[in-house]
Parts: sequence; C-alpha cells; structure tokens
Amino acid sequence: MTAIDTSPTTAAPAPGTPLTGTTPTSSDHLRSPLSGTSSSGTDFSGSHLSGTVLATPPTAELHLHVEGTLEPELVFALADRNDVDLPFASVDELRAAYSFGSLQEFLDLYYACTAVLQTAQDFHDLAWAYLERAHAQGLRHVEMFFDPQAHTSRDVDVDEVIDGLTQALGEARERFGITGGLILCFLRHLPVGDAAATLESVAHRASDLIGVGLDSSEVGFPPAAFARVFDRARALGLHVVAHAGEEGPPSYVTDALDLLRVERVDHGVRSLEDDALVARLVADRVPLTVCPLSNLRLAVVSDLAEHPLPRMLEAGLLVTVNSDDPAYFGGYVGDNYEALRDVLGLDDDMLALLATNSVEASFADAGRKAELTAEVQAWREARRAA
Ligand code: ADE
Ligand code: ZN
Repeated sequence: MTAIDTSPTTAAPAPGTPLTGTTPTSSDHLRSPLSGTSSSGTDFSGSHLSGTVLATPPTAELHLHVEGTLEPELVFALADRNDVDLPFASVDELRAAYSFGSLQEFLDLYYACTAVLQTAQDFHDLAWAYLERAHAQGLRHVEMFFDPQAHTSRDVDVDEVIDGLTQALGEARERFGITGGLILCFLRHLPVGDAAATLESVAHRASDLIGVGLDSSEVGFPPAAFARVFDRARALGLHVVAHAGEEGPPSYVTDALDLLRVERVDHGVRSLEDDALVARLVADRVPLTVCPLSNLRLAVVSDLAEHPLPRMLEAGLLVTVNSDDPAYFGGYVGDNYEALRDVLGLDDDMLALLATNSVEASFADAGRKAELTAEVQAWREARRAA
C-alpha cells in the first residue's frame, strides 16, 4: 500500500485509487505485533532523531484512537477519494468546529468524520500519517485503539479495517522500529449484543489484536453490561482495558476493575475522588492512561494548570501520558509531554518517569520493555549532557 499525500495542493485521484507515496509493503512481520524489534542495527531511538536530542522522551503511547488522528486535510483528501459529501466547505471550516464543551460534543464530530474511512487503503493511510507524526515526536511503541462498530455500522468490512491498520503498523516497525499493535474498542453506547457480535466477527483474527477496550459516551453507560464480553475476550487470549473515570464517577473505575477485570484504566482521572480506590490502584500498580490535552479540550479540566496529573504522581499512581485523539485535541504524544513541562513545570526527571511508566504499563514483552527503558535512560542522560 502507499501513503496518502494530504498536502492541500494534491489533485484528488479517482475513488478507490491509492494516492502518492512509496511506503514499502510487507506482511510476514504482521503476525505477532508485540514481539521482536528492529534487526537492522539502526538507532531508532527517538532521542536521536535528526542528530538532536528531542525535548521530550522516547515513549510508548497506550491511549490513542486511530480515528482520532484524522486531521482535517486527510478528511478532505479521503472524501475526494471516496466521493463522500462533507457537511463542511473547507478544512478551515472543519477545524473551526473543533471546540467541544463535553465528550459527547466531540464524539458527534468524531463519528461523523469516520464516514470518509472506507477501504483498507484509507485505514492504512490514516494510521501511517499518525505513525509518521508520532515518530517525529519520539514514539517507540503504540497500542492503537480502533472502533470497528463505527465502521461496520456503515457496511465497511472489519477485515478492511484490520488489514489497513496492521499493514501500517508493520511498515512503522520496518521503517522506524516502532513496535505495538491493535486494541479493538467496543462502543459502550451501543447494545452489548452488538459488542458481543463484533468480538465473534474477529475471533478468527485474535492473533492480529493485542486486546479489547471500551470507549465512547461514558456517563450512563457503566461497565457492568460488558462483563461477559470481556470474559470472552480474555478467553480468546486478549488483554483487556477500558475507559473509566474520564467524565464518569470513580465507581465506574471500581466496576471496570471488579467486573471487567481490566489491566489498565483509560483516563481514570476521577479516581482521585475516592481515597480507597486510589490506594487500591497504587497497591496493585494498575496503570492509568492519562491524556492531558484531551482533558483540557473536553472540559474535564478547565485549565491545564489545574490538571490532577502531578497529584496523581504524588499519590504513587502509575500514570502514563497519551494523546487520545490528537487531531482533535491540538497535540500528539510529544506535545502532551511538552505541555506538562511548560504548564505544570514537570522537569526531565518527571518526564522520564512518565515515559518509563508507559513502558512498564505496555503489553510489550520483557525484552522490548528492557530496550525501551534503556532508551528512556539514554534520553535522560543525553538531556543532562546537552
Ligand atoms: N473515543 C475517542 N476518544 C474518546 C474519549 N476520549 N473517551 C471516550 N471515547 C472516546
Ligand atoms: Zn480515549
């Protein structure tokens, strides 16, 4: 497959035509998304990109919705390719709509924009654009969420989705040494039977997935309904995570732990309202995938300077930093680290701790974790020497 060119001057090809770019293809490396590393001997460390030391550490990103990486330029390029009518006249008009008072306001636009994603090529191009950008910011490992129900509800075949995303991840491993894989998220606002059917529809491709998650509108959709679907996912050998405590109360986090038996909590910032829950998360070293710029843009916090992340670290929580939906929230993973430095005053030691946490919290194998941890340490030393 080839990567799409989203520059505004690119002429749109006929629907379904692959666009410009020369990304090499491969398939043999797609089978086991988490094992192995670059064998080329090339130094892929984000800390040495372009011969300079990045201002933010090499990191793993564990909370990233690939549909949320759909930049306005790509929305329009894919709309041209697939003959989709958009309710926005221009890139600028679409970008101007990126002002959200709540999670739901954001989700309405997020789902509307997915209409342009139709073929494996589209999903490939979407993921590749993200991987290139995040690579430039020091991404070393990604556990990428995708929302199959947002696509199958439009008659897109789930295999098209998985094929395109898997291809892009394979290319990122070859070109950049980025490891990782896919986490399939169930939309919690839809009936649980829909989630169960979605899981069965991909059961034969479980080896192409790392795990399952739970996302979309949170308040009013507590985790309990999904307990049996998560049991089934575990039986398929998949890891399990869930969004909880973003807008929803701490009891949703407790339920995600007790009823879904999640290994990580996505967001989880409202856990701080329950001391017993915090003690439990600390004691069990349950990772929280925190998304600072997302929390600001979705009004979970009114000011980044008041973000609870420093308090979460002080409490001993295993906090990681992630971008959630970077095209919509004004920043990729490195931008989130940068904001923590600029607005909350976190120093290099704290940023390195957060990056090390992201490695610990990942589902990478022990060997890869050791490599990534060493890369973070090398970054810290390079920063000291700079
Ligand atoms: N889907 C995409 N981004 C999300 C978020 N921040 N919370 C819940 N569902 C989402
Ligand atoms: Zn999310």
